[in-house]
Amino acid sequence: MGLTLNTIVPWGRSYEEYVAMFGLTETDLSRRLLGCGDGPAGFNAELTRRGGRIVSIDPLYAFDTAQIRQRIAETHDTVMAQMREHQASYVWTTIPSIEALGRVRLSAMDLFLADYEAGTREGRYLTGALPSLPVGNDTFDLALSSHFLFLYSALLSTDFHLQAITNMLRAAQEVRVFPLLTLDGQPSPHLGAVTEQLTRQGFHVDLQPVPYEFQRGGNTMMRIARQHNASSGREDSYSSLSLPSRAEGMP
Ligand SMILES: C[S@@+](CC[C@H](N)C(=O)[O-])C[C@H]1O[C@@H](n2cnc3c(N)ncnc32)[C@H](O)[C@@H]1O
Repeated sequence: MGLTLNTIVPWGRSYEEYVAMFGLTETDLSRRLLGCGDGPAGFNAELTRRGGRIVSIDPLYAFDTAQIRQRIAETHDTVMAQMREHQASYVWTTIPSIEALGRVRLSAMDLFLADYEAGTREGRYLTGALPSLPVGNDTFDLALSSHFLFLYSALLSTDFHLQAITNMLRAAQEVRVFPLLTLDGQPSPHLGAVTEQLTRQGFHVDLQPVPYEFQRGGNTMMRIARQHNASSGREDSYSSLSLPSRAEGMP
């Protein structure tokens, strides 16, 4: 089925939320970043304003500013109504209320909309859809996926997750994914198999706590890195280095 704007709910998190969700340090923020499924990416706009280097990829970028702006307006009330209905499933500390949530999200999306045309000209917003990535090997240091992988576990298979993450690891030496919960707030059913398969392929997988929890219980990110072979000094990203009996990093 071809993508239409009607199937997309543009809803983007802020720069501060990205920094917290992925535990990004100043060093991380100075690396070449790739955001996969970034949507209305306030993080891209703000990081660029601060002098950072980032490219975002999303099927949403097939549409122009006016179309995305209209779609945000159309979906805003529905999303807010859903949040009200499921309010108890979220932690209201950093973002204290539904109204504050609406303000934070709209202001992040406004930043994106103001930046979108310039960012597209500069090649910072690329149209594309995981599990493929329209970028070359090793063109980034760190690839991020926020609120797409694992969240939509009911729609995306284990194999889709593995293809997407290995492709992100082709483009960047490290990948971080957040959250590890589904839309229902349950741990993703793909988590064990994805961790085990990536570990078998020789990647180093860690589940790490982060200083961000909005979905109740969702304060863990998956961090995947190419193994570093100390004796040769090279990275063995795709070779099968080890076959551990149990997946690393699982609780
Ligand atoms: C819930 S939004 C998350 C947006 C942003 N990452 C954030 O956390 O604020 C999910 C995003 O995934 C995008 N998306 C849908 N299918 C995709 C695919 N196959 N590959 C990459 N992104 C996809 C949607 O267009 C949407 O922007």
